Amino acid sequence: MKQKILRLLKENRGQFVSGQKISEELDVTRTAIWKYINQLKEEGYEIQSVSRKGYSLISTADRLSYEEIKDYLNTKYVGRKVMYFDSISSTNDKAKELATLGEGEGAVIIAEEQTKGKGRLGKNWISPKGKGIWMSIILRPDINPVHASKVTQVAAAAVSTSISKMGIKNLIKWPNDIVVGNKKVCGILTEMSGELNRINYIVVGIGINVNIDIEELPNEVKGIATSLKEEYGERISRKKLTAEILNNFEELYKELVKENKISKSIQICRQYSAILGKEIRVIMRGEEIRGKAIDLTEEGELLIKDKEGKVQKIISGEVSVRGLYGYV
Ligand code: BTN
Repeated sequence: MKQKILRLLKENRGQFVSGQKISEELDVTRTAIWKYINQLKEEGYEIQSVSRKGYSLISTADRLSYEEIKDYLNTKYVGRKVMYFDSISSTNDKAKELATLGEGEGAVIIAEEQTKGKGRLGKNWISPKGKGIWMSIILRPDINPVHASKVTQVAAAAVSTSISKMGIKNLIKWPNDIVVGNKKVCGILTEMSGELNRINYIVVGIGINVNIDIEELPNEVKGIATSLKEEYGERISRKKLTAEILNNFEELYKELVKENKISKSIQICRQYSAILGKEIRVIMRGEEIRGKAIDLTEEGELLIKDKEGKVQKIISGEVSVRGLYGYV
C-alpha cells in the first residue's frame, strides 16, 4: 500500500493529492494513509501535508528500491524483480538463498547496507548505509560451468561502461576490480552452484563505493580504495548508476546466453584495461607469476609473457601492478 501511495504522489508531482482521493482510489482509511505518509517521510521522501489540500511529493528519497530505479531501467528481465533490503548481512548470501529456493534469472537483491559484506578471498567488504551500491544478480545461463567466470568480465564491462557514462574515467583491473585514480572503487564477487556439466545458478555481486567520504573508510583500505564521489568531487546518483549497470549488464550478457561468447565485454575490458602492457605480478593458487600482461583471450583469460618469452594463460588470480593500490 505504501508503494501505491507513493506512486500516486509521483504521478501527481507538483500538485496536492487529497486524502479523500487517495482513500477512494486505493481503498484505504485516512488514518492508514497518514501512517504510510509518515513512514515514507522517515525513509527520506519529502512530503508536504497541508490540511484540506492533502499531500504533495517534494522530493524522492535516495533509495535503491525498484520504485526508485525503474524509471531509468530499460531491461527486459534483469532488475525487473528487485528484492530490496534496508540492511542485510550480504546480498550475495541472500541471492544464493533465494536462488536455491528457485528465484529466476535476472532477479536482483539490493541492500542499503551490508553488515557482513563479502569480498574475494574471504575478505570483508565495507558497505555503509546509503553510500554505495551493494547488489547481486541471480543468473541461470545454460552454459558449461567452466565458462562461469565469463560473467565477471561481463559485469566488469557493464560497470565500467556505466561509470564512464557518468563522466568518470575508470579502468578495469582484471579480473574483477574497477579503478579510479589508481584506487579501487568497485569489486565483483561471482559465486556459482552447479554440477560438473551444469550450472544451477550464478550470483554476481557488485559492490561500488559511490558516495562514501574517504574518512569513512577503515584505515587499512584508505590507501587502496576510494569512492566515485571522492574522485569526481560531487555526489553521484546511485539510482541512475544502478539502473545503468543493469541495462548494460543485460545487453552484454545477451551475447553470452545467445552465442556463448563475450566478445563485446572483452573488447571493453581490453580497451579500459588497467594492466595490459604493464609488468605485473599474479598470485594464482599460492604461486607467483611475473611478466608482462599482453592480452585477454576471447574467453576472458589473461595472457602473461614472462622474461623468457613464454606466454602463460591465467584463468583467475590476484594481480598487482606498480602504481596501483599503493603497490610499489
Ligand atoms: C572484491 O573485490 O573482493 C569483491 C567485492 C564484492 C562486494 C559485493 S557488495 C554486493 C555483494 N554482496 C557481497 O557480500 N559481496 C558483493
